[in-house]
Amino acid sequence: MIFGKIIDKKNNELSKKIDNKKVPEHVAIIMDGNGRWATKKGLPRSFGHNKGVSVLKEVLKVSKNLGCKVLTVYAFSTENWTRPTKEVDYLINLFNQVLRNEIQEIHQELIKIKFIGDLTPFPEALKKIIYSSESLTKNNNSFLLNICINYGGRQEIVKVAKELALQSSSGEIKPSEVNEELFNSKLLTQGIKDPELLIRTSGEKRISNFLLWQLAYSEIYISEVLWPDFNEFEFLKAIIDYQSRNRRFGGIESLHNESFEDSQCSS
Ligand code: FPP
Repeated sequence: MIFGKIIDKKNNELSKKIDNKKVPEHVAIIMDGNGRWATKKGLPRSFGHNKGVSVLKEVLKVSKNLGCKVLTVYAFSTENWTRPTKEVDYLINLFNQVLRNEIQEIHQELIKIKFIGDLTPFPEALKKIIYSSESLTKNNNSFLLNICINYGGRQEIVKVAKELALQSSSGEIKPSEVNEELFNSKLLTQGIKDPELLIRTSGEKRISNFLLWQLAYSEIYISEVLWPDFNEFEFLKAIIDYQSRNRRFGGIESLHNESFEDSQCSS
């Protein structure tokens, strides 16, 4: 496979530019563009979703090898129910099939799998395989793969607000005790560090109701590539771009001994 070799060489060159000490621990991805990829090729949209699965497998492998610890992917949003029933059914079936085929390997790789979102409306068969996959991998600690399905950031925030309101009205907590830490502890991502990096493919520049609370300070990388064409090379490019950013979290770059006035004069 000559083509494979060329890609490997390009990836190797890119890998050398990565600072192993600055690899993001948690990467979140909006895998966008499956439908457009398929349509461009004159294929049904389902082909795009199928190819999207193999890309996810590749990105999972690369991110783990690179030293990332958590990968969170947006596989089905609360808004995706508005798609034609045939496509929704296809996706549900695909999740089911992928889990069935891949869970043993995921487990062997010591990856913990977790589904984030309201699973209530999904068919029992899918819920069953989700719960058994989560249970099988619950003690794995080399990597965490979060798959967001029927997930919406606003819905998640409203759910937490309701829980806190109930606790407050029952006297369990005082309104004054509500703070970021308490709020955070009730999110679906409780206990997981916020993503340092969000990647969105297909050139769209929106967050689309994904991890609204958790992405507050994440770096955003938009890739023009459609998700089915995304690969190790594109992922490494995103990491290198992330490493070139100056993360200030609303503060200012370290001024060392310079005073505020000095920095004003020299800027
Ligand atoms: C967005 O592309 C993609 C989705 C809504 C589905 C993503 C699902 C996968 C990649 C499969 C993952 C499988 C598992 C088991 C997690 P789109 O359909 O919105 O594309 P478009 O914007 O071009 O129409």
